[in-house]
Amino acid sequence: MAGNGEPFWEKAYREENAVAFSSEPNRTIKEFEYLLKKPSRILDVGCGEGQNAFYLAQQGYGEVDAFDRSISAIEKCKKRSLATNTKIHAFVADLKNYQWRQSYDWILSFGTFHFVEKTDWKSFILQAKTHTNQGGIHIVQIFTDALPAPEDISPFSIGLAKDGEIRELYRDWEILQFQSYLFEEEHPGIPRHTHASNKIVARKTDCV
Ligand SMILES: C[S@@+](CC[C@H](N)C(=O)[O-])C[C@H]1O[C@@H](n2cnc3c(N)ncnc32)[C@H](O)[C@@H]1O
Repeated sequence: MAGNGEPFWEKAYREENAVAFSSEPNRTIKEFEYLLKKPSRILDVGCGEGQNAFYLAQQGYGEVDAFDRSISAIEKCKKRSLATNTKIHAFVADLKNYQWRQSYDWILSFGTFHFVEKTDWKSFILQAKTHTNQGGIHIVQIFTDALPAPEDISPFSIGLAKDGEIRELYRDWEILQFQSYLFEEEHPGIPRHTHASNKIVARKTDCV
């Protein structure tokens, strides 16, 4: 947490040349993109600087929507969209009261849901499932309480999942991958720390 009470990534979002997490797309996107048809409709939930959304748009997969509650993150995405002539629709929204306007083929969320209460992320996922086209895929990564949240994000980590809990929400979908793992991270000004995480890749099958 920065001294002003905001999460550390906000400073990087405000700085044009800083990178908050990574400039590369998440490896699970690359692992499963062979399943993504063109054209598709894609939604990135809590997109941050948009590295995943930009990657998918640059590959020409179709229309990419990306939202985050951080105004700085979305401004940065919009500037990058203009500067690189890569069309993504980036907008400020809060997943706690998200207004669904359409259905998607892919819905992604990396490292975001644990920042809202459990009832909120569960309710969002249930809505997201109904707003997913047949054959559509969700890729969700969420921190769990298998380890305490590191000091820098503990004040914000109000909805840590129980290990395996996310899988329950997809029990009526085909689970293409489920992982429970620990990983180490380091950010500018934040000591090296370990997160406990779950990641799921699930597909809405024809019989649902
Ligand atoms: C750890 S960052 C991950 C960003 C991005 N998904 C990535 O992989 O780089 C978490 C993001 O979730 C966003 N976020 C937190 N709570 C949110 C909410 N209620 N609605 C939308 N975005 C939220 C934060 O602003 C932040 O950008």
